[in-house]
Amino acid sequence: MKLLAMVLVLLFSLFTVLSARHLSNNDEVNEMFSSWLVKHSKIYHSFVEKTKRFQIFKDNVNYIQQHNFGNNSYKLGLNKFADLSLDEYHLLYTGAKKIDSKHKFNNVRSDRYSIHSSDVLPDSIDWRTKGAIAAVKDQGSCGSCWAFSTIGSVEAINQIMTGDLVTLSEQELIDCDTRFSQGCNGGYMDHAFEFIINNGGIDLDKDYPYTGTDGRCNITKKKIKVVSIDNYEDVPVNNELALQKAAANQPITVTIEASGQDFQFYTSGIFDGSCGTNLDHGVVVVGYGTEEGKDYWIVRNSWGAEWGEEGYIRMERNIEDKEGKCGIAMAAFYPVKYDPNPPTPSPSPSEPTHP
Ligand SMILES: *[C@@H]1O[C@H](CO)[C@@H](O)[C@H](O)[C@H]1NC(C)=O
Ligand SMILES: *[C@@H]1O[C@H](CO)[C@@H](O)[C@H](O)[C@H]1NC(C)=O
Repeated sequence: MKLLAMVLVLLFSLFTVLSARHLSNNDEVNEMFSSWLVKHSKIYHSFVEKTKRFQIFKDNVNYIQQHNFGNNSYKLGLNKFADLSLDEYHLLYTGAKKIDSKHKFNNVRSDRYSIHSSDVLPDSIDWRTKGAIAAVKDQGSCGSCWAFSTIGSVEAINQIMTGDLVTLSEQELIDCDTRFSQGCNGGYMDHAFEFIINNGGIDLDKDYPYTGTDGRCNITKKKIKVVSIDNYEDVPVNNELALQKAAANQPITVTIEASGQDFQFYTSGIFDGSCGTNLDHGVVVVGYGTEEGKDYWIVRNSWGAEWGEEGYIRMERNIEDKEGKCGIAMAAFYPVKYDPNPPTPSPSPSEPTHP
């Protein structure tokens, strides 16, 4: 019995190795499509739609297999975006408003994380291991990354200053922060921080839960302010060292270009693929490190835990372009929260100390 199992495992591995050496044929792709549909509980409502989706899926399989044959530091895979064209993916799942002639990100300058020659920065940090990061969330097919990107760093600074990790409401931002942002049609993280400051705080996720659709602002819930911040500031722009210093102190809201196919299908490794600086996606830097000589950022996404490395992507760090990989150092922000219990000056010792 044991022997049979071993032989089966061996045969299976052999099959996997062999099948990895050629691009899948139509029958194989058909089978992959069927199991992918089951895994993702997908149902198409017409034959035409199913045919169209199969064609896109097939093109994506082809693209992913070609990539994975190469000697790359990151792998691609058939994730939940596998039946989407690049345009559809981009439209549905990103959503930070572009820095264009109509909008400039506010500049809230600060020297807090400017680099000085005396700075000694830790080689690595991971705020997940420090209890500052809630489970990865899923924005669904709503361009609300900007809300998740804002809330992620607010949850973190709140945990750092108070010791409590509470998950906060993206939906409140989507419904109520509508002066500049447009809910599921995209928005701005800097204005979202301003909204939280001006509102005097933000509600809990469980009390103002995520629907993934644009809703009317519930004024009753908006008035419930569970967690507040005092300010927000910009990380000095186009400077990965400043971003490193900032990330060593707290998780940081950043803006990147995520519109490429390699980003769509990223599953693991250090992403050093090609991407531009046409910023379209808000995420959170929750740490950084180095693996086999390659520096990376640890980036928390909002596409569920199934995407990437359990919801995260590691992106190449310290690249030649000062904007950073996919523009990660171009528009980075962090909330400021004062210590709710500042240490009281210690009284002079009343008891004489014994030698
Ligand atoms: C794969 O890439 C790495 C890093 O660029 C390199 O060191 C290694 O020699 C390459 N291996 C092959 C088989 O090309
Ligand atoms: C707003 O929230 C309150 C408190 O949860 C609820 O009782 C009320 O029905 C909500 N209002 C609307 C218009 O949904």
